[in-house]
Amino acid sequence: MSSIVMGIESSCDETGVGLVRLRDDGGVELLADEVASSVEEHARFGGVVPEVASRAHLEAMVPTVRRAFDTAGLRMSDVDAIAVTAGPGLAGALLVGVSAAKAYAAALDVPLYGVNHLAGHIAVDTLQHGPLPTPSLALLVSGGHTQLLRVDDIACKITEIGSTVDDAAGEAYDKVARVLGLPYPGGPPIDRAAREGDPNAIAFPRGMTGPRDAPFDFSFSGLKTAVARWVEGAQARGENIPVADVAASFQEAVADVLTAKAVRAATELGIGTLVISGGVAANSRLASLAAERCADAGVELRVPRPRLCTDNGAMIAALGAHLVAAGCPPSPLDLSADPSLPV
Ligand code: KG4
Ligand code: ZN
Repeated sequence: MSSIVMGIESSCDETGVGLVRLRDDGGVELLADEVASSVEEHARFGGVVPEVASRAHLEAMVPTVRRAFDTAGLRMSDVDAIAVTAGPGLAGALLVGVSAAKAYAAALDVPLYGVNHLAGHIAVDTLQHGPLPTPSLALLVSGGHTQLLRVDDIACKITEIGSTVDDAAGEAYDKVARVLGLPYPGGPPIDRAAREGDPNAIAFPRGMTGPRDAPFDFSFSGLKTAVARWVEGAQARGENIPVADVAASFQEAVADVLTAKAVRAATELGIGTLVISGGVAANSRLASLAAERCADAGVELRVPRPRLCTDNGAMIAALGAHLVAAGCPPSPLDLSADPSLPV
């Protein structure tokens, strides 16, 4: 008998509800993926405001759940298990999702699984590309995280092998966009502007690539500051800012470091598959450079489609389905949110 798993995501500014079917052969199929975003409410602040996000989750939760069931053509009584992001993320935002998931699990009398948001970003790839070979390497790049993770078992064994020591890659995109007068979130407008620019116009620094630096850690704060200084210098000289060239050169520095370290990690650890996920995985230059370098190194590259890369409920439902398939014990009904939950 196949099972239906509902996933609820509310760790940041997206209220996501996903429904998946876990087939008897262990495959996981996407049935619905509904997202309500409060991103526009945060835009004028240039970043996510936690209280605004929590309130938006509260308003959007029940309507988003309803939409997911309508899309899938299912009834709530069809659900066999519920998974919810227990962390990491914003405390108040997480609590809305965890509370809703507990209420649905209690009312429907089905098991509840509190899951890790980062593992969800990796698990989502199985909805598009099928079972993940093990071990795999995951490069998780979003507004809140930049990590290299070794995946031995998506349900229970994920090990961090590197992470950013300061800003996340997406955070650097958002801050550089602000300096260039581009809107929030900064990734998409920088990606677009960069298409018209020269990636070699300005030699921005590649953080954490010195011989003494940790080989799999990242740093984007120096790059962000270098871009801000360069722009301030040009402004002080009364010059027009070549936005496309700055965007392309910044983007090249980010993509260069991310792909070089990920491919090096895969090669040194003898891992044949690299998954890139999280909002920044939607970046066109990151995708093209990763494809080029993975092909040269003989590493299989898997990048879920952009809609699956950004925060959503389907990734949590997919991870929940893998936990059900692995026979993992459910969480107790007094599950609480953990803003700094490790992988
Ligand atoms: O995964 P996500 O939706 O939310 C977090 O968990 O943070 O990632 C959002 C981040 C933002 O910083 C946004 O600027 C970035 O992903 N992003 C991009 C692109 N699309 C979104 N960064 C670079 N290029 C893109 N095309
Ligand atoms: Zn995320």
